[in-house]
Formats: sequence, structure tokens, C-alpha cells
Amino acid sequence: MGFALLPVLVSVLTIQYSAAQSFKCSSSDPSTCHALVGYITVNNTNLGAIQSLFSVKNLGSLLGANNLPLNTKRSYAIPAQQVIKVPINCLCNNNTGLPAQIAAANNIRDPNLITIGDKLKIPLPCSCDEVDGQKVVHYAHMVKAGSSLGEIAQEFGTNEETLARINGIKADGDLKADQPIDVPLKACNSSISGDSFDFPLLAANGTYLFTANGCVKCMCDAANNWTLHCEPSQNKPSKWDTCPSMKCQGAEGLSIGNSTAAGCNRSTCSYAGFNNSTIMTTLVQDSSSCSSK
Ligand SMILES: *[C@@H]1O[C@H](CO)[C@@H](O)[C@H](O)[C@H]1NC(C)=O
Ligand SMILES: *[C@@H]1O[C@H](CO)[C@@H](O)[C@H](O)[C@H]1NC(C)=O
Ligand SMILES: *[C@@H]1O[C@H](CO)[C@@H](O)[C@H](O)[C@H]1NC(C)=O
Ligand SMILES: *[C@@H]1O[C@H](CO)[C@@H](O)[C@H](O)[C@H]1NC(C)=O
Ligand SMILES: *[C@@H]1O[C@H](CO)[C@@H](O)[C@H](O)[C@H]1NC(C)=O
Ligand SMILES: *[C@@H]1O[C@H](CO)[C@@H](O)[C@H](O)[C@H]1NC(C)=O
Ligand SMILES: *[C@@H]1O[C@H](CO)[C@@H](O)[C@H](O)[C@H]1NC(C)=O
Ligand SMILES: *[C@@H]1O[C@H](CO)[C@@H](O)[C@H](O)[C@H]1NC(C)=O
Ligand SMILES: *[C@@H]1O[C@H](CO)[C@@H](O)[C@H](O)[C@H]1NC(C)=O
Repeated sequence: MGFALLPVLVSVLTIQYSAAQSFKCSSSDPSTCHALVGYITVNNTNLGAIQSLFSVKNLGSLLGANNLPLNTKRSYAIPAQQVIKVPINCLCNNNTGLPAQIAAANNIRDPNLITIGDKLKIPLPCSCDEVDGQKVVHYAHMVKAGSSLGEIAQEFGTNEETLARINGIKADGDLKADQPIDVPLKACNSSISGDSFDFPLLAANGTYLFTANGCVKCMCDAANNWTLHCEPSQNKPSKWDTCPSMKCQGAEGLSIGNSTAAGCNRSTCSYAGFNNSTIMTTLVQDSSSCSSK
């Protein structure tokens, strides 16, 4: 079991979700992670409307998930039938995945259909499980009529066998149109410390996100050797008066994201996480371009 609940206005409920549809979310300890849901717009709409539909706190996280420029406005028009990736914080507990903020606000115990006021809560799946020993970003992809596991695997850089296994599907014929399938997206490597509040900090190729109370912006580009690139953001921090120091110890000239001159033993000041008072950094040495000893 592992489906999650998000409030969606009844009027936009053209996608039929079934309670039987579930993603495995089997972490033994409660854990949270970033996950993505592929929402297909019904009519012409705009980003702001999608942000409120899914209770996304910051517009920046919606922009980052879709790799839209940071100065994009809420009024940015989105045509009908477009796929928008919606970021959710998945809370995995007792084999069930729920978007974290919604689980906390509603004290949800039974992840079945719940109606509150004029809002209908429908199950949307999420997961934090590792796939083949790798931490991944779980993406709930809406199956299009007539598509195959092979096509989906190719589109998202995974393979048919993995897709079939984690979704409990045997053949293309088991794929149901307009139902979500769990697609594991390979994530960029980071230098994040295990005791950081945002561990394991996962970002999929072609996305960016904000962390450390908004002080740090991290981008994932497969072309950059699947290494997460973080740098100070220009944001006002959400929980701090000002952002703590982002300089690397032992290399005071370097802030997060800076590197020494290219060449042998190039070192990069990398983001390593945050806690209540501190943004952690680490100096990463790359000697791969040194000529052999
Ligand atoms: C989409 O447009 C149709 C026709 O204009 C309308 O009936 C429907 O309520 C709209 N749905 C949403 C979610 O706005
Ligand atoms: C965990 O889930 C099972 C079945 O889904 C339920 O019976 C049990 O009460 C749950 N445990 C807790 C601690 O919520
Ligand atoms: C990070 O890189 C190592 C070595 O290349 C790899 O084994 C590991 O799976 C990567 N982690 C992620 C999250 O991609
Ligand atoms: C990564 O994303 C870019 C677009 O942002 C795309 O052109 C490229 O093919 C992707 N690479 C991989 C390996 O998925
Ligand atoms: C690519 O990243 C891995 C670790 O994730 C590292 O070991 C390797 O040296 C990198 N390769 C290059 C060419 O930077
Ligand atoms: C460090 O990176 C910032 C941007 O994040 C840039 O403005 C600054 O000039 C860089 N400093 C050095 C020493 O490269
Ligand atoms: C690169 O760094 C390593 C370890 O820090 C050191 O042993 C080596 O001599 C350095 N190479 C150069 C060319 O500075
Ligand atoms: C935050 O992390 C720093 C660096 O690891 C550590 O020195 C500090 O004690 C931590 N503070 C709290 C409140 O955990
Ligand atoms: C960190 O801050 C939270 C509230 O933001 C507080 O509940 C917690 O006790 C703090 N932890 C430490 C180690 O100061």
C-alpha cells in the first residue's frame, strides 16, 4: 500500500483514480522525500491555479520541478492537456505514502476517499523506496492510452523490467490509461550529510529545487556527470533572518558552488546540508584530470 491524498476540486476531477492503485512505500522508519506527480491539465489554466490546486507552498518549487525560469509569474498560461510536474513531500510511514503537509494537517489514518467540504480528496500515490539499491525521485506518471512499458521506460531513462516489477505489472496490457504508474527517475549525486534536515536531497535531471530554508538553490543536469550543483540563492530565507555563512572551511575564498581554477586537483565548495543554525559545506576534490603518478 502506498497511495496518498491530495485535495482536488470536484470540478477538475476528470482523471479517475482507483483506490486499488498503489505504490509501494515500505521504509520501515517514517521517512520523507521529494516526489513528483505528473498532472495533466484539463482546460487552459495557469501556474497559480495549479499551485493552489495541489497546495504547493512555494511557486519556486513548482517552477523548479518543470525547469521554468525563476521569474515566471503565477499568471503564466498553461494550455489544456499539458503535463505539469507537481512536487510533493512524500511521507512514508507504515507502508503508506502521503504528501507530508496533508498528512500532518488532517491526521489521516485511512488513505481512502475522504470528502471534506467542497473538496474531494483522491488518492495520489507516492513512494520513498530505493530502487535497485539507488535513491531515486519517484514520479507518478499518468499512463496515456496505447502506451507501452518500453516507451515509458525510454522516455524517463529507466527500463521495462524495473517499471514492471515496482508496479506489479506483467505486460503492456496491464497498463491502464489515465492511471498513475510509479516511474523511478535517476537522481543527481550530492554531498549531502546523513544528519542534514533535507537528507537525502534528491533532484531529477532537468530540475532544480530550493533548500536550507530557501538559501540554497540546487540543480541537476545529467550532462554535468549527474552531480548536483548547488549555489546560494537570491531568496530571502523562510526561517532565518539572514542566511548563515556558505563559505567552505579551509578555503575561505570559496562559497557553495565556487571552484578553484580548472585543472588538476580542482576543488569545489559543495553544499552538505543544514540544521537549525548552520549551512554545512564540504570541499570536494576532483583529481580525475591529474596526469597519472
Ligand atoms: C473545462 O471547460 C469546460 C467547458 O468550458 C467546463 O465545463 C469545465 O468546468 C472546465 N473544467 C475546469 C476544471 O475548469
Ligand atoms: C499500519 O497499517 C496497518 C494496515 O494498513 C494497520 O492495521 C495498523 O494499525 C497501522 N499501524 C499504525 C501504527 O498506524
Ligand atoms: C552517486 O554516484 C555513485 C558512484 O558513481 C553511485 O553508485 C550512486 O548510485 C550515485 N547516487 C545517486 C543518488 O545517483
Ligand atoms: C536530461 O534532461 C535534458 C533536458 O533538461 C535532456 O535533454 C537530456 O536528454 C536528459 N538526459 C538524460 C540522460 O536523461
Ligand atoms: C563523475 O562522478 C563520479 C562520482 O559521482 C566521479 O567518481 C567521477 O570521477 C566523475 N567523473 C568526471 C569525469 O568528473
Ligand atoms: C562564487 O559564486 C558566486 C555565485 O554563486 C559568484 O557570484 C562569485 O563570483 C563566485 N566567487 C568566486 C571566487 O568564484
Ligand atoms: C593533488 O592532491 C593530492 C591529495 O590532496 C596530492 O597528493 C597531489 O600531490 C596533488 N597533486 C597536485 C599536482 O597538486
Ligand atoms: C548544526 O551543524 C553544525 C555543523 O555540523 C554543528 O556544529 C551544530 O552543533 C549543529 N547545530 C544544531 C542545533 O544541531
Ligand atoms: C530546531 O528547530 C525546531 C523548530 O524549528 C525545534 O523544534 C528543534 O528543537 C530545534 N532543534 C535544535 C537541536 O535546536
